[in-house]
Amino acid sequence: MLCGVGGHVPPSVVTNADLAARVDTTDEWIRTRTGITRRHVVDPGTATSDLAERAGAAALESAGAATVDAVVLATTTPDHPCPGTAPKVAERLGMSGTPAYDVNAVCSGFVYGMATATGLIAAGLADRVLLIGADAFTTLLDPEDRDTVAVFGDGAGAVVLRSGDPGEPGAVHAFDLGSDGSLADLIMVPAGGSRYPTRGTVPGAVPRAEPGAEPGAGDVWFSMQGRAVYRHAVRRMTSSSRAALLRAGWTTGDVDLLVGHQANIRILRAVADELGIPHDRACVDLDQVGNTAAASIPLALAHAASSGALREGDRVLLTAFGGGATWGSCVLTWPKT
Ligand code: UT7
Repeated sequence: MLCGVGGHVPPSVVTNADLAARVDTTDEWIRTRTGITRRHVVDPGTATSDLAERAGAAALESAGAATVDAVVLATTTPDHPCPGTAPKVAERLGMSGTPAYDVNAVCSGFVYGMATATGLIAAGLADRVLLIGADAFTTLLDPEDRDTVAVFGDGAGAVVLRSGDPGEPGAVHAFDLGSDGSLADLIMVPAGGSRYPTRGTVPGAVPRAEPGAEPGAGDVWFSMQGRAVYRHAVRRMTSSSRAALLRAGWTTGDVDLLVGHQANIRILRAVADELGIPHDRACVDLDQVGNTAAASIPLALAHAASSGALREGDRVLLTAFGGGATWGSCVLTWPKT
């Protein structure tokens, strides 16, 4: 059962015009190809835990809960490669001693986190779980790379889940999750893990390393094969949505709000069209925040709840595609928030 929601974005805003002054792009290209007009970015010194803490506190307040039995943080940008960031967030929220761990499924992370949190409750390991999706994704980007800086922003969103009756508003009805590791190269930061460890500092940009070779400086940045990701995203978000709806016994006509991963307005519209869901039932906040990776769905939920676009009893379909490749969908009804 979902029983609280909250979001947070860092204060600094980068508009398309700001980007056009820095890299070879235009406001018109970004708006027409992605739907994005601005994004919030972290200032130096702000990390994922700082965003996660604020969103987590907002969700706890919305749920009327001071503590929970577990904290799950979906992120691809932990404060440090080791350890996970969730324990730090739990401690800062006054929950030292509470089980807390990270989930990394990139842009599908929040939907995977929903499954993890729901599973903890179903297994009797927790009565209430705080699930946060948070990413300071711009910290992974080469500031010179127009392919990626135009797309991503930073933020955090969170929900509180609790045990409850499947008939109550807020009930989580069904999931569909999947992955395809053969597509891992499509979305990647090649270096900094165990395949290409980075030791010491890496000097100025050099070409991508061959497998087995030492990593090059360019390999520390995030890279995305945008066009291929676009195709797979539309296909998988559509099929996964259908599978989750089928498990819930719902049709696409039952969906009051489609909350897709906010990657690109064209992807959201294509998925809505494939499913036969009118565009006005597809939630869009990417124009204001860009693609915030694991934060994108909970942030969209927080924005939809605060603007009145989500009301008690609404039937909601969440769907995402991300690095891995991973994808997932979740069907729920909206609680009183
Ligand atoms: O969050 C995880 C999931 N991620 C996604 O779902 C992202 C999916 N992909 C996309 O949203 C889109 O593929 C992008 C927004 C990343 C790119 O849009 P596109 O329409 O697929 O463009 P493209 O990559 O096919 O590039 C078209 C042209 C290229 O120029 P040429 O080769 O046609 O001369 C690019 O170099 O647009 C160029 N281009 C740009 N031009 C101006 C790429 N980025 C930019 C830019 N400004 N920022």
